[in-house]
Amino acid sequence: MTERHEKRVALVTGAAHGIGEAVARRFVADGLYSVVTDIDDEAGEAVASSLGAEAEYHHLDVRSEDDWARVTGAVLERHGRLDVLVNNAGITGFEEGLVSHDPEHAELVSWRGVHETNLDGTFLGCRAAIRAMRPAGQGAIVNISSRSGLSGVPGAAAYASSKAAIRNHTKTVALYCAEQGLRIRCNAVFPGAILTRIWEPMLGDGPDREERLRALSADVPVQRMGTPEEVAAAVAYLASEDAAYTTGSELVIDGGLTAGTTARPDQ
Ligand code: NAI
Repeated sequence: MTERHEKRVALVTGAAHGIGEAVARRFVADGLYSVVTDIDDEAGEAVASSLGAEAEYHHLDVRSEDDWARVTGAVLERHGRLDVLVNNAGITGFEEGLVSHDPEHAELVSWRGVHETNLDGTFLGCRAAIRAMRPAGQGAIVNISSRSGLSGVPGAAAYASSKAAIRNHTKTVALYCAEQGLRIRCNAVFPGAILTRIWEPMLGDGPDREERLRALSADVPVQRMGTPEEVAAAVAYLASEDAAYTTGSELVIDGGLTAGTTARPDQ
């Protein structure tokens, strides 16, 4: 049965943990209805149920065309609208352990695996969202790229390549929607050094964990890692009417990591 919401309805991928979870929570705090999606069903269900009547959970593997059709279909059927999509789900390729991901040694299978989730997932999400938003003629898509999409990363070739491609596809989607006369905006966020479990393989649980954390923070110009909530605030802005004239844009949330060099000519 369709429950026509006054509220705007937002779908977030990879929302069982980290940045996606913070975005889903922020949307509810801002008065939107959150559709929490992930492949980690137990954690995803827990996030949605903690948000009570303002959220629901669906299994959505961003690599699956069928999942996108099923979940956007269910959202339109139940709520009659989709206002916001956040393409957040992403992997580094280091989930099963730190293996070499440099351009000389990376395995084709892991290169493809990272692109399948990060890039194909974002392509499928944008496509599903345009189709779902077309009847209303408006909406907002926010893609989560990375500071790694703005520069080369020798040790994470596939991750950097996939995130750079997301940056470009965001602009293509923005221009396509404008050309079509649709008020569907598409923007990208570029987080850097946000403390979530994505860093676990790099931090490890050995005796040098704290030292590694300190070293990571010391690399950031503002001398600390960011929080998922700080990224969620940027996503909430781009998803809102405050950003009505903003499309195809890039919002960097990285404590100054990509601002330039901290090298001093007097040293
Ligand atoms: P996380 O590992 O806490 O969250 C990622 C979520 O994506 C998890 O809930 C996971 O289950 C889900 N996921 C993985 N594969 C999926 C699939 N095929 N379909 C659906 N869901 C899937 O990591 P975090 O840090 O919250 O990352 C979120 C996004 O932010 C990612 O795209 C990541 O690349 C990006 N990012 C994170 C940064 C950081 O420093 N934490 C920096 C730059 C970008």
